[in-house]
Amino acid sequence: MLNWEDPLAGLAGPNVAPVKISRASSREATLFPSSAITSPLVQETPAPPKGGASGLEAIQMGARRIQVDDKRIINCRADLNQLVPFKYRWAWQKYLDACANHWMPQEINMTSDIALWKSSDGLTEDERTIIKRNLGFFSTADSLVANNLVLAVYRHITNPECRQYLLRQAFEEALHTHAYQYAIESLGMDEGEVFNMYRELPAVARKAEWALPFTQSLGDPAFQTGTPENDQRLLRDLIAFYVIFEGIFFYVGFTQILSMGRRNKMTGTAEQFQYILRDESMHMNFGIDVINQIKIENPHLWSATFQAEVVQLIREAVDIEIQYAHDTMPRGILGMNAPMFEDYLRFIANRRCTQIGLPEQYVGATNPFPWMSEILDLNKEKNFFETRVTEYQTGGALNWD
Ligand SMILES: [Fe+2]
Ligand SMILES: [Fe+2]
Repeated sequence: MLNWEDPLAGLAGPNVAPVKISRASSREATLFPSSAITSPLVQETPAPPKGGASGLEAIQMGARRIQVDDKRIINCRADLNQLVPFKYRWAWQKYLDACANHWMPQEINMTSDIALWKSSDGLTEDERTIIKRNLGFFSTADSLVANNLVLAVYRHITNPECRQYLLRQAFEEALHTHAYQYAIESLGMDEGEVFNMYRELPAVARKAEWALPFTQSLGDPAFQTGTPENDQRLLRDLIAFYVIFEGIFFYVGFTQILSMGRRNKMTGTAEQFQYILRDESMHMNFGIDVINQIKIENPHLWSATFQAEVVQLIREAVDIEIQYAHDTMPRGILGMNAPMFEDYLRFIANRRCTQIGLPEQYVGATNPFPWMSEILDLNKEKNFFETRVTEYQTGGALNWD
């Protein structure tokens, strides 16, 4: 059985005055130095083992055991190396769900895509543009998301179960970059052209340019949370990446490629995108849970001014993604056109606003792609993964001789 009772709290023997337990709030508790527990006659509840924001601080031998109330998403100063006791079970559950949905890009058969891509009359020029620009955008976008996670966000999220999910997410971002590279290589595309669209094609560069300042401000080694202004900077970065980058900026590309797959074209690439979309949907939902939990624990950050700023960011993002729809799809194809995406993006933005507690911004926006919701329906997750290869190439390739 797990036992979270603190034996140090019961040190008092028959000849020792009983320890008076007065429950300090978690915030107060973090202010008490651990030296407060050196005497068995201490009159206050001892503080949790004191750490910093990193988890790399010295171990405090003999400090009292960590309690659930010691834990907070940001600005927690209790030791960060202890996963349990869990406070945010949703974060742990998402970690478990993500592991249960593990996949690898090489599991997906790309044979028919290669034949179609290399045939002279299999795809129109407009379809080729959509494929190339989306691979151009995503092949660098997922690296940017991973770098934001590892170099900017991770050290400021001071909770072990959330960090556990962030580690899994970081690996998934690596898998996504791998999947795009695998598709680009399989199709025999000009890798230099595709990977450099990030710098050479405004339609591809614009979204990364929009997001970069949010992560840059947090990536500064001198940056620390703990003031309302800096905590809002962290919250702004989380909203920019989880709600906007992964929650709005990915959706034109995902819809375009998945629509191609529904028409039996580039089915291997579409399947890669389908797996990725499933992961991204979970990343976004995790981010939204983190954002909402930070709001609960720090209501002063969610001021009217800050809310107005976030609304403005979301509206700006919708305009940028509408522009991306026009740039990648100058003419209507595959039963889709750019104006349909305007409606779709406004519909999605309304959902994102609701998810973080903001009013809907676009009255009457409807979803012209209801099949996208079906793909995202978690109840169908099992069916989706039924087709996967169960033996990994990596496992089969191991040689123990
Ligand atoms: Fe990703
Ligand atoms: Fe992601």
